[in-house]
Amino acid sequence: MMNPVLDELKIFTGNGHPDLARSVCEYLEIPLGEAEVFKFANDNTFVRIKENIRQRDVFIVQPTCYPVNDNLMELLIMIDACKRASAGRITAVIPYYGYGRTDKKDQPRVPITARLVADLLTAAGADRMLTVDLHAGQIQGFFNIPVDELTALPILTDYFKAKEIDDLVVVAVDIGISKKARDVADRLHAPLAIIEKRRIGNDEKTEMMNVIGDVEGKVALTFDDEIATGGTIVNAAQSLADHGVKEVYCCVTHPILSGNAPQLMAASNFTEVVVSDTIPVTPEKRNGKITVLSVAPLLGEAIYRIHKGLSVGDMFNT
Ligand code: R5P
Repeated sequence: MMNPVLDELKIFTGNGHPDLARSVCEYLEIPLGEAEVFKFANDNTFVRIKENIRQRDVFIVQPTCYPVNDNLMELLIMIDACKRASAGRITAVIPYYGYGRTDKKDQPRVPITARLVADLLTAAGADRMLTVDLHAGQIQGFFNIPVDELTALPILTDYFKAKEIDDLVVVAVDIGISKKARDVADRLHAPLAIIEKRRIGNDEKTEMMNVIGDVEGKVALTFDDEIATGGTIVNAAQSLADHGVKEVYCCVTHPILSGNAPQLMAASNFTEVVVSDTIPVTPEKRNGKITVLSVAPLLGEAIYRIHKGLSVGDMFNT
C-alpha cells in the first residue's frame, strides 16, 4: 500500500515569486495550491491554506529575496499553517536563500544570520529544504533537516555553449567563487582567470585588485553567485577591459539587482548579462542587456524526485 503521508503532492506560494511557483506547477502539470497570504492593516502577515492538506506532501515555493524580512516571515507563517493543518511533510523551497552572506563570525560581535534563519525554518516545522546555489555550500550544515542544493550552472552554461564563442575565458570575479567558476570553465572547455577583489568595510563598496590569468584579446565570461548593487561585476568588466579583453559577458544565478544596479549594468561594457529567475526580475529592472533563464524545470524535476524518493543527484550526472 502506498504511504498515505506522501501520496499527493501540493505546491503553495507566498508573495515572494508566484510566477516561478506557477511555472513549477506547469512543469509538474498540477494546479497551484490555493492559499491567502496577506497583511492586515496592523502590518501582521496572515495566511490561510484554502484546501485540505492532511497527510499531503507539501512544498512551499518562496525565495527570501526583497522584501527579505516580509518574504521570510510569510514563509515561516505558511509552514506553521501547513503544520497545524496536519500536512504529512513540509519542504521549504527557497530558490534564493536570503541572509546567506551572513554565514560566519568574521568580526567581533556580529551574528550568523544564515544559521538563525535555518533554526527559524526548522522551529516553524519545515521537514526539508530545497534551494539553488547557496552563497556558501556549508550553509547546508546549519540545518538538522535534509537539504538539497541544486545548481543553475548547467542552465547558464548551456546558454553560452550554444553561442559557440571563440577565445572564451571564464573569469571568477573573486577568489571565493573560483571553485564554482572552475566548474563553469570545465563545462565550456575554456580556461579560467580570477580577479582578486577586496570589500571595503561593511558597506557595499568593492575594490578590484589583480587579474590572475591570461585574458588579453579574449572574450571574457564573468561568473558570480549574485548581483546585488552590481559593483562587483561592473568593476570586474572594467578591469577586464583595462587588461585588453575584446568583449565581456556575465552569468550569475541570483539577480538581486538592488538600487541602480540595472542602470549600472546598462551603462557598463557588458554585451549581455545572463541570470536565472530564482528572484523575480521586474519589468523596471529589465534592460536590453539582461537575459533571464528559468529554473522552474530544475525545481519541478527536483520536487518530483523528492516526492517519489528518487535521486536528485542524478539530475546533475552528465
Ligand atoms: C560576494 O561575496 C558575492 O559572491 C557577490 O560577489 C556579491 O554579493 C555581489 O554584490 P555586489 O553586486 O553588491 O557587488
